[in-house]
Amino acid sequence: MSARLSVADVFLQFGGITVLESVSFDVEPSTIFGLVGPNGAGKTSLFNCISGHYKPSAGSVSIDGEDVLPRAPSKLAHIGLARTFQHPALQLHSTVLDNVLLGGHCRLTGGALSWALRPPHIVRQERRIRQQAHETLERLDLDWAAGTMAGELPHALHKRVELCRALLSRPKLLLLDEPAAGLSHSEVEDLIAWLRNLRSEFGLTMIVVEHHMGLISAITDRVAVLNQGRKLMEGTAAEAQRDPRVVEAYLGGEAA
Ligand SMILES: Nc1ncnc2c1ncn2[C@@H]1O[C@H](COP(=O)(O)OP(=O)(O)OP(=O)(O)O)[C@@H](O)[C@H]1O
Ligand SMILES: [Mg+2]
Repeated sequence: MSARLSVADVFLQFGGITVLESVSFDVEPSTIFGLVGPNGAGKTSLFNCISGHYKPSAGSVSIDGEDVLPRAPSKLAHIGLARTFQHPALQLHSTVLDNVLLGGHCRLTGGALSWALRPPHIVRQERRIRQQAHETLERLDLDWAAGTMAGELPHALHKRVELCRALLSRPKLLLLDEPAAGLSHSEVEDLIAWLRNLRSEFGLTMIVVEHHMGLISAITDRVAVLNQGRKLMEGTAAEAQRDPRVVEAYLGGEAA
């Protein structure tokens, strides 16, 4: 299950401020695309445009040729899109398992009546999704925490719970916003291995926003560098790291 994403000429404005200016790129099926750039470059805003949380003032976003912009974010799971957030917002008073199960809701069929009556096919679906939630938690070494309240889990693990939740929707395209933030060196190594496996096993297409260049170099096929809302360049991670415009953008940010 993999998808092709096309972002074409996207503009985003808030009041008089231009946050994204004519951003375009394509992500091929089963590839991992990195989105990098200094703080405030517009990376999260671009994710918000792809996932329907922001409406661009111009441009188009399509998944497998289907225009996604008119859709509400809640409908995007139905066309195979899932994401995690820069600042995860879990249901802190629910268990880790219940948080992950939220990702499976979009796959349940049946209207309100069948929920009330709970016919056998609904019960079977629920049981299967619960089983898959445990498998997903196991895959990411988190099954031990299934019954723990999310609020009691160390903050560094919240993004991993979010990733499990996103995976349970069985996406074709997965957007990850700074998945390595706050992780130790060995946790980043684990994350790299999991993301590689997800791509090779399920052919998942992924876009990863990340400041951790080690992770970007290890897993991406291509990257785009954003600076002040514009795409500065696109190429491999190695090409980006030696591009003088990219070096300048980061140094400019540090000097400011
Ligand atoms: N809802 C909003 N209203 C007004 N301005 C916004 C809004 N969302 C984003 N911005 C502005 O858009 C710019 C880009 O922000 P964004 O969060 O997309 O950057 P980023 O590249 O994700 O940065 P970081 O690496 O720090 O997460 C910033 O100047 C930010 O203030
Ligand atoms: Mg961001």
